Amino acid sequence: MSAKLIKGAEVAAEIRDELKKEVEELKAKHNITPGLVTILVGEDPGSVSYVTAKQKTAHELGFHSVQDNQSPEITEEALLKLLDKYNKDPKIHGILVQLPLPKHIDSNKVLYGINPDKDVDAFHPVNVGRILIGNYAFLPCTPAGCQELIVRGYGDPKGKEVVVVGRSNIVGKPMVAIMIQKKAGANATVTCVHTGTPKEKMIEHCKRADILIVAAGVPKYVQADWVKPGACVIDVGVNRIGKSEKTGKAILAGDVDFETVKEVASAITPVPGGVGPMTITMLMKNTVMAAKLAAGLIKI
Ligand code: GUN
Repeated sequence: MSAKLIKGAEVAAEIRDELKKEVEELKAKHNITPGLVTILVGEDPGSVSYVTAKQKTAHELGFHSVQDNQSPEITEEALLKLLDKYNKDPKIHGILVQLPLPKHIDSNKVLYGINPDKDVDAFHPVNVGRILIGNYAFLPCTPAGCQELIVRGYGDPKGKEVVVVGRSNIVGKPMVAIMIQKKAGANATVTCVHTGTPKEKMIEHCKRADILIVAAGVPKYVQADWVKPGACVIDVGVNRIGKSEKTGKAILAGDVDFETVKEVASAITPVPGGVGPMTITMLMKNTVMAAKLAAGLIKI
């Protein structure tokens, strides 16, 4: 039997509809327009296309949105000064510095220069700490997108065995922190396996998972015989495994061997079209929260 496909574009559109209504309400009832600035340093084509998509979505949702382009030669000091300007700007609730930054700039120093209450990427150590404590406003976009896909595409993870493959700072670790929260959409029993886990142990743990979240960075890593029949499989991997002769476009594969795993799982995210389309929408959700936070409508 073939698993149900959890389609990221559809779930993301559903969340954007909800956000649009929330923005209209914030404007009408509280005279608040969520404001987002995306800062782009240089002209890397991948980064240009990311920030363009982010600005387009912000605009569609009725945000006050600002695109700030900076020269690749900008100094770290000047970039920190720019952040300070936006930190103080009451019209701007969310600040995103598109990564990667040029080599002469220390990315951590820049990311830590963003006011944590405007840090809609949730990369600042204060926000990392808030997630661990459970007092968060923002969740990092990729793991937050995975959580939405699980809740809306499979069901409540409460009491389920969740296994996370991978321990990166932007996916694996926050995914664990989110899934163990004593909150709706979480409350799971969580195991994290990683490059330090012996392969046979890794397979043993994966086989126990009701929900298997894979961010290993290895194409088609997880095999059908690692998956419990009926499990929900969330594939975070995006790997370029070739080029189409017809279109010249990259052929993508996830970290899960989709063709065989879909015959065992009950629900699975495709690559592309699964986790990918969720991240920008989660950034928008964080920006709406940042606006509510600034207005005192929510508290951390
Ligand atoms: N570059 C690629 N992904 C991201 C992201 O999620 N946030 C930022 N700031 N830059 C990125």
